[in-house]
Amino acid sequence: MTSLLEVNNISLAFRQRTGFFSPPQLIPAVKSVSMQVREGEVMAIVGESGSGKSTLAKLVLRLLMPDTGSITIDGRPSSTLSPRDFANLVQPVFQDPYSSLNPKRTLADIIQMPLIVRGGVSAKECQDRARELFGRVGLPMRLFHTYPNQISGGQRQRVAIARALMLRPKLLVCDEPTSALDVSVQAQILKLFEELKQSFGLTYLFISHNLAVVERIADRIAVMYRGEIVEQGETAPFFAAPRHPYSRMLLSSVLIPIAGRPLPLVSRDFETSVSCESPATERPIVATRGCRP
Ligand SMILES: Nc1ncnc2c1ncn2[C@@H]1O[C@H](COP(=O)(O)OP(=O)(O)OP(=O)(O)O)[C@@H](O)[C@H]1O
Ligand SMILES: [Mg+2]
Repeated sequence: MTSLLEVNNISLAFRQRTGFFSPPQLIPAVKSVSMQVREGEVMAIVGESGSGKSTLAKLVLRLLMPDTGSITIDGRPSSTLSPRDFANLVQPVFQDPYSSLNPKRTLADIIQMPLIVRGGVSAKECQDRARELFGRVGLPMRLFHTYPNQISGGQRQRVAIARALMLRPKLLVCDEPTSALDVSVQAQILKLFEELKQSFGLTYLFISHNLAVVERIADRIAVMYRGEIVEQGETAPFFAAPRHPYSRMLLSSVLIPIAGRPLPLVSRDFETSVSCESPATERPIVATRGCRP
């Protein structure tokens, strides 16, 4: 398998002002991250809140530009691709299906929009493709001309997925695509991701807090901690024997829903055993592997 996505040593620090006269503070969100995602593979990114997962996704999606480093997609430097070529290769699926769909458009319009913007096909072809995708993502045709507020959260996420597939991209960048959904709906959407991957030959960069989701869907995993990838590897060996202390901590701190059990804490021993810029503090890791979808 060849690499569809290559991230080469990218870094990004946000500049944030704390006061009118104070100089901007640098917040390093992604630090020297490198990874390769092979065609047809599901690469999961896990890590606690604030570790830089969404920032990495936005860099891949070109919603942010790196300070240093480069990204290659399908063998071409991402920064040199035209918006049209980029959209034909990479599409996003975001966490919140409530805010990611325009409430004033019908589902039919929302799904067709990427192809209408790109052009090159007739209105009939565009609508036929949208109808076909509507069925493929498991939506009943009677909803085709309804509005986002008339459907459920799970159905909204199906619409977002259909829209992402409209241009037949190779890579889907999914940022917590099931986190806003009920557990039973999460399982259905995950199954849909698995089916679509097979039928459309897709590659996923799949961000999730939920280790059970990741264990089920991912071929490989990258663990982010404070902007860096501290470990990456195949899923099964990772879950059997994580190498990095933070990965071990992440797996051992899985939340098993037992009434009265407090959140696990990252110990100071661990925090001081990895290189980091901010002072060591105790804070909970967010992981819900115990809540298997
Ligand atoms: N627009 C921004 N301006 C300033 N700082 C930002 C901005 N976006 C993110 N950050 C900071 O960058 C760091 C990484 O944020 P990011 O959203 O990538 O984390 P995350 O791993 O996706 O977290 P979560 O799991 O909560 O979604 C955090 O410290 C965050 O506060
Ligand atoms: Mg995020």
